[in-house]
Amino acid sequence: MTLAGKHIVLGISGGIAAYKTPFLVRQLVQNGAEVETVLTRSAAEFVTPTTLAALTGRPPRSALFDIEAEAAMGHIELARWADTLVIAPATAHTIGRLAAGLADDLLTTLALATPAPLFLAPAMNQQMWAHVAVQENIRALRARGVGIIGPDAGEQACGDVGPGRMSEPETIIDHLQTLHAQKPLEGKLTGRKIVITAGPTREPIDPVRYISNHSSGKQGYAMAAAARAAGAEVVLISGPTRLETPAGVRRVDVESATDMMKATQAELEQTDVFIGVAAVADYRPAEPKDRKIKRESSGDISIEMTMNPDIIRSVAESAARPTVVVGFAAETNDAIQHARDKRLRKGLDLIVVNDVSRKDIGFNTDENAATLISDDKEVTLSKQSKDSLAGAIVEAIVELLGES
Ligand code: CTP
Repeated sequence: MTLAGKHIVLGISGGIAAYKTPFLVRQLVQNGAEVETVLTRSAAEFVTPTTLAALTGRPPRSALFDIEAEAAMGHIELARWADTLVIAPATAHTIGRLAAGLADDLLTTLALATPAPLFLAPAMNQQMWAHVAVQENIRALRARGVGIIGPDAGEQACGDVGPGRMSEPETIIDHLQTLHAQKPLEGKLTGRKIVITAGPTREPIDPVRYISNHSSGKQGYAMAAAARAAGAEVVLISGPTRLETPAGVRRVDVESATDMMKATQAELEQTDVFIGVAAVADYRPAEPKDRKIKRESSGDISIEMTMNPDIIRSVAESAARPTVVVGFAAETNDAIQHARDKRLRKGLDLIVVNDVSRKDIGFNTDENAATLISDDKEVTLSKQSKDSLAGAIVEAIVELLGES
């Protein structure tokens, strides 16, 4: 009963994959969730309201202006009731309407009116999925924190083969379980705004080349997911990564350290916690060239480097200093001593240090081990997934906020 008592609003839009939704509904109910189903106009062509009513024990809803349904639970009430809104299948049309922010039926209205995280399980023909219009909509939704589940690749109802099949109900349930798994911290950061930097930065040499580092962004993204799961409003200022934005997190994409600095300053007002996880390049080419450096005419070259701004230090020293400022340090030798010094030098409340000379943790791996150093405490956490480490760090942050 991993979803016991959770209120799930399941939106169903009109695609052939809707035939899978009764299985999804059954598994949600078996996991203890309370489910309200909302159909788009064409969804009823693929799945019958009678089936859904039998499985959920509640009549499915469809129209925005249904007097009887509104009398039982108004649509705004339904939007507030939801712990999660999942749309499965999400057709290209519904994805387009969500990306445009339309509210032309009950489902899209709920998507705008609910504070709950939104997940989509897209399903469509592979050519449609690949279309730039759909991909742009997906990118826009992801950037707004919408969780995109799948689609899977394989044989399609239309005979095509490729990505576009709706993910299996088990996969969708897995996502929801992960979202609701972080129980102990649930609500601990509600009403707090947290700004996190993550990933590497790229410092241009010329229009086609840059200097960067091996940071994957995984630890920063895990921090964002954990802070969001604890109820915070999370802004993730991210250098280039291959990662998906955690559900419910607002992501701001940047490239260089200078951009990251600007984006951070723009977000600082009313921020309770700043977490610098980004591997910010310490130096950048002093004069990036406007044109590609040509081998023939240049011969050997040397690039003059200039120092980048220290983002976290400027946050810690700013007039709008967040209550808690947390830094990360990757060290190769004398890790603890370096980290203690770094925490004081940068004016941080907490520093999370790991030893990157170990190949099994840190950069580009899924696991990490770390020591958390604050004013009055040093706690060493053993090797564990970056997700679970993120949970432990959020716990430490909750404690620091409590003390302040
Ligand atoms: N950091 C930052 N801006 C920089 C460099 C680092 O915000 N220009 C932040 C990182 O996000 C991290 C912390 O500072 O939270 C420590 O990063 P690190 O690279 O270890 O610090 P440096 O000051 O660069 O120290 P070192 O001399 O060890 O390179």
